[in-house]
Amino acid sequence: MLDLSTKYMGIPLKNPIIAGASKLTGNLDAIKKIEAAGAGAIVVKSLFEEEIQFERLRLEEDLDRYAERNPEMVSLFPGFEHAGPKEHLLWLKKVTDSVSIPVIASLNAVYPETWVEYAGLLEEAGVQGLELNFYSIHGDMEKDAASIEQGQIDILTAVKEVVSIPVSVKLSMFYSNPIHFISRLDKAGVGAVVLFNRFFQPDIDIAEEKNQFFLNLSNPEDYRLPLRFAGLLHDRISCCISCNTGIFEGEDVVKMLLAGACTVQVVSTLFKNGAGHIGKMLQSLGNWMESKGYSALKDFKGAMSEKHNPEPWVYTRAQYVSLLLNPEKYMTWQHQV
Ligand SMILES: Cc1cc2nc3c(=O)[nH]c(=O)nc-3n(C[C@H](O)[C@H](O)[C@H](O)COP(=O)(O)O)c2cc1C
Repeated sequence: MLDLSTKYMGIPLKNPIIAGASKLTGNLDAIKKIEAAGAGAIVVKSLFEEEIQFERLRLEEDLDRYAERNPEMVSLFPGFEHAGPKEHLLWLKKVTDSVSIPVIASLNAVYPETWVEYAGLLEEAGVQGLELNFYSIHGDMEKDAASIEQGQIDILTAVKEVVSIPVSVKLSMFYSNPIHFISRLDKAGVGAVVLFNRFFQPDIDIAEEKNQFFLNLSNPEDYRLPLRFAGLLHDRISCCISCNTGIFEGEDVVKMLLAGACTVQVVSTLFKNGAGHIGKMLQSLGNWMESKGYSALKDFKGAMSEKHNPEPWVYTRAQYVSLLLNPEKYMTWQHQV
């Protein structure tokens, strides 16, 4: 009997496949399909501070217009206030009541006080964990890396002071030394690091000379970046590693676990192959374990990480040098020059 169970930040999961935050986990029907397909947990789409601020602005405009026409009505109905994050929180409560797998909330705020305020509110919705989505683009030339990183550590620390559920951090890959920053998050008590978020990049239509907007999905080989960092970090930090980006098939899940992840998060594969694909991924994971004679994830988790790999140099600079000096050795295709 195969045991695919794992623990994510102390939360027991029946298997390591988590449906990551996206529009899909912002829809109850899709969430139910994801649960039926066998997902171990879901991360609901992020609550974005912009959403809240935008709604607040709309309310202020509404109130101004309303007050001009009907000033007495506003004083008669002081309870007429904007829902703000309430809508998201009510919906989140509905999700936690409707599914039996663990639900993790996700937050992307701007100001330190908002991170803390909304983290507390999200916990009240009954979620088992909270993911801080540190997606931000810094356009300020005066702001250095150290102050940005310190700001993020401060947010984690402040959030952990107000919530009692485990807290993960979803990171971008753009840190000068990601493993240094991750070790700081680990020391600050993060429950898990999600490696990595994918950025949506701008593009330009050269015929029209205007902006183009794409919501591109990941490519299958993108998983190699989280694989490298899972391999480098395994057994060196105490928090969980959740690999994300470019994980499409059960075989990719096996690779992440071998590198040292305790869970994976998937999004693009759900958009491309449907929620039911989770079932196929689990089947492939199980088939592989059987073929190897493994009965539980702990039998092979981290077996190919830097610490346990017979060729640990694959995770570091030596791999780069070796590849560039001996390209023929690694080429799997015919080339013509
Ligand atoms: C349509 C869409 C919506 C997304 N929304 C969120 C979100 O609300 N919060 C978040 O942290 N990540 C969000 N993401 C990023 C995904 O959670 C994930 O990190 C990224 O797509 C990489 O994983 P993948 O390769 O499996 O797609 C979104 C991605 C897509 C494609």
